[in-house]
Amino acid sequence: MGLLSTALWAVATPVILFMTYTYLSLLRNYIVAIQIGVPVRAIPIEQTNPFWMIMDKQVLAFLKRYLPFVRDSSFARFNWRGFEIAERYKPHHELGDVYMVSTPGRNWLYLGDPELVMQTIKRGKEFPRCSELAAALNVFGTNLGTVDAAEWKRQRKIVATCFTEQANASVWSDTVVRARDMLRYWTSKQALTTAADDLRTLSLGIMSEVGFGESSQFEGHEERVRGAGGTSTTSYKDTLQEILENCVLIMALGPDVLAKLEKWLPKKLKTLQHACVVFQSHMTNMYEETKAKVANRSSQTSVTPRNFLTSLVQASHEMTSEGLTERQVYGNMFMLAFAGHDTVAHTFTFALLFLAGSPEVQDWVSEEVRAVLGNREAKDLDYEKDFPRLQRCLAVMCETIRLYPPVALAKWTASETQTLQVGEKTLVLPPKTMIIPSYSSLHTDPRWWGEDSLTWRPSRWIKKTGPNGEKELITPRKGTFLGWSEGTRDCPGRKFSKVEFVATIATLFKDWRVDPVPQAGVNLTQARKEVLEFIVVDAAPVLLLQMNHPERVPLVWKKR
Ligand code: HEM
Ligand SMILES: *[C@@H]1O[C@H](CO)[C@@H](O)[C@H](O)[C@H]1NC(C)=O
Ligand SMILES: *[C@@H]1O[C@H](CO)[C@@H](O)[C@H](O)[C@H]1NC(C)=O
Ligand SMILES: *[C@@H]1O[C@H](CO)[C@@H](O)[C@H](O)[C@H]1NC(C)=O
Repeated sequence: MGLLSTALWAVATPVILFMTYTYLSLLRNYIVAIQIGVPVRAIPIEQTNPFWMIMDKQVLAFLKRYLPFVRDSSFARFNWRGFEIAERYKPHHELGDVYMVSTPGRNWLYLGDPELVMQTIKRGKEFPRCSELAAALNVFGTNLGTVDAAEWKRQRKIVATCFTEQANASVWSDTVVRARDMLRYWTSKQALTTAADDLRTLSLGIMSEVGFGESSQFEGHEERVRGAGGTSTTSYKDTLQEILENCVLIMALGPDVLAKLEKWLPKKLKTLQHACVVFQSHMTNMYEETKAKVANRSSQTSVTPRNFLTSLVQASHEMTSEGLTERQVYGNMFMLAFAGHDTVAHTFTFALLFLAGSPEVQDWVSEEVRAVLGNREAKDLDYEKDFPRLQRCLAVMCETIRLYPPVALAKWTASETQTLQVGEKTLVLPPKTMIIPSYSSLHTDPRWWGEDSLTWRPSRWIKKTGPNGEKELITPRKGTFLGWSEGTRDCPGRKFSKVEFVATIATLFKDWRVDPVPQAGVNLTQARKEVLEFIVVDAAPVLLLQMNHPERVPLVWKKR
């Protein structure tokens, strides 16, 4: 009896201590929050707590089912990652342009007013990107995405040399070839369930080739699986794919921990650890080779082909002391590979499903591509001539990112106290206060986007310009569209991703259409409607906002 109660106490004490500590932390943060003078909602667990992130939606769904009073509580509404997408503009319409969510970790200030958001974005020094959340991207070295202040300025200058006019053009021509191969593979299938996987392969292939000079050919899901045939992955692209598919694990554990634990790891983690090692050695080889070429360049007339890696190494070489260290080159190679393909892949998947549910938009896109191409074929799509005219294809991208922006923005006050003017009030924000531009609210607020703001309607982006019709996209009011962010810390890959997206959509939809495969007893009209409903329930953030089970919507391609 004595033993049992001792054992119980041994278990219970740390739990009680932990809960007390958590509760006191929340209380402390809550007191700070209410003094700021904006509406405050308290939640018991910080949304970004990694343990909570694994099960937040399931636990809340369970509680909501059995405990009616939980249903409309702040806990159920705000205490999970991705609540912004589900709630859209509702919290700001209820609580005003600014509200605070208080947690045991940090206080999160949400901004739903475009001017206020632009003001904080412009004050990038005072409200930097939250480095605590970004740190996970440091796995192979610090990089542009994770550094601040002077160090950021230096790295940004070097990374900017990657994004040249020549890069835009290579993205275009490389995409056209790969998208055609993908279309050929897709149109050979009765019921395609691997579209999301294939789209990722497409964007990763483009990134590997244009970014890092590793050439490859598009392979559909089954070809890829067959090709791998059990042998361990060895190419740059394959190891990168393995790493990115398991990004969350690596970011949680880090390659060093994986290496130390190698002997005890389960098979899946062993494969992953192997991929990290091989990927690192690829980067080292590529780096050494490029460095030698760059150093030797003056003595040779032949120019090395430009890609992200050669740009980084060359700029670092030219700027000597201002340049990137070897480890920072690796850090940026990884970051660019990640930021440069995952974002586009998820946007593709959302767009494809929206299109599958909207045959009239497919017709509208096809009409444009045919008009732009005249009697040329899809393979003749030309960057300079055609890209600026494919505005409907681009509108499909912007509209998709408006409703499902892949990247969540998170700024904070870092180590300083900052003030923020909200109307008559001056908010005093202590260190480590999160400053969140409510992108999902701003992107859908009827005040800026009209009554049908929650409907996916790409044509809203087309500016009507006189008699010769649709030539340009609208410029949304500043601060109401943050898909690629704004200000000095915006996305340098904006153009890159637009070029890739437009080339792909134009290639796919010129002569083909896509439909969901209806389940037994359901007609096509109903099936399309269900696809659109499925997007809403299936979208959720992993690292980025994405569809979690796109394979549940089998698709079929038909010739027009
Ligand atoms: C649909 C495609 C894309 C979207 C929606 C997107 C969105 C964004 C957003 C919102 C940010 C700012 C993040 C923050 O402030 O926390 C960002 C940063 C960044 N993006 Fe993109 N991006 C896309 C494609 C790309 C591509 C293709 C590349 C590279 C080839 C790229 C490279 C970067 C880099 C390097 C940064 C960090 C910039 C800095 O911190 O100075 N992105 N992106
Ligand atoms: C190519 O991309 C860069 C930046 O990514 C941009 O400044 C430039 O205007 C682009 N060129 C064209 C013709 O769109
Ligand atoms: C540099 O160039 C010279 C000849 O132009 C060549 O012999 C040498 O191997 C090159 N070095 C490297 C490291 O590529
Ligand atoms: C398809 O099914 C829905 C409901 O199941 C029905 O309302 C609709 O009329 C059907 N449409 C056609 C074209 O048969």
